[in-house]
Amino acid sequence: MRVVSTVADLRAARGDYPRLGFVPTMGFLHEGHLTLVRAAKARMGAVACSIFVNPTQFAPSEDLARYPRDLDRDLRLLEEVGCDLVFTPTPEAIYPDGFSTRIEVEGVTAPLEGAVRPGHFSGVATVVTKLFNMVQPDAAWFGQKDAQQCAVIRRMARDLNLPVEIVVAETVREPDGLAMSSRNIYLAADERVAALCLIRSLRAAEAAFDARERSGDRLRLAMKAVLIAEPMARPDYVSIADPDTLAELDMVDDRGAVASLAVRIGKTRLIDNLLLGEARQKWLR
Ligand code: PAF
Repeated sequence: MRVVSTVADLRAARGDYPRLGFVPTMGFLHEGHLTLVRAAKARMGAVACSIFVNPTQFAPSEDLARYPRDLDRDLRLLEEVGCDLVFTPTPEAIYPDGFSTRIEVEGVTAPLEGAVRPGHFSGVATVVTKLFNMVQPDAAWFGQKDAQQCAVIRRMARDLNLPVEIVVAETVREPDGLAMSSRNIYLAADERVAALCLIRSLRAAEAAFDARERSGDRLRLAMKAVLIAEPMARPDYVSIADPDTLAELDMVDDRGAVASLAVRIGKTRLIDNLLLGEARQKWLR
């Protein structure tokens, strides 16, 4: 496994791989990331991973300084899963003095996470575009857990004709159903138990959908009922949304929906989602 931290070294290494899969990350890797790396390697023969905690996707009030980091452990894990190339740029390499260009994806960035995290998706879209230009992968893997991020990146790749196939891989969960996330480490023992209300809430929507409920309001109510029963949960939103635009749905049609939510448990903000109906086949094909 080669580890490079300058764009020049990355470019020199890139030529050695006729086909290259790519998994962009902010490090502190968990099984969700490693699953993406394995899938990319299996399909493309070679895989690159970037580790970069991107400052432009954190609001001033957010957890950039306390975002967990452990590069040695990350490199060990990547080596174990057969990663070929790791890019660990410095903030200066990504945002040199005078950097003044940003990518703005409209529409799909507005609701949900976009509404509570202004500038977040512009930061994600900008860094992902830069990383694509630097790594020049044939295909890139993203985890379904960040559903809106997946929708934004797919929109951006289509709109800008980026020559990179975007692959979304199913969320990896702990045995009790909690979606894997680098932020789970912040949860105290009682908060970790309370955090299960996210998947319970999503499964309530899924069960209602499977029982043919198609009203967006009633599906959202089924989700809220679960969250209200958990005293430690402070929900930011629950959503039953269009699988492409992420606009809230009055009625779910044959295209299915993205059921998603953001909930604060103590000081930690968690997100999760499930894909309902056709949306599942379409997103994860
Ligand atoms: O999902 C993440 O970890 C980040 O948003 C990404 C895609 C690596 C961009 O910084």
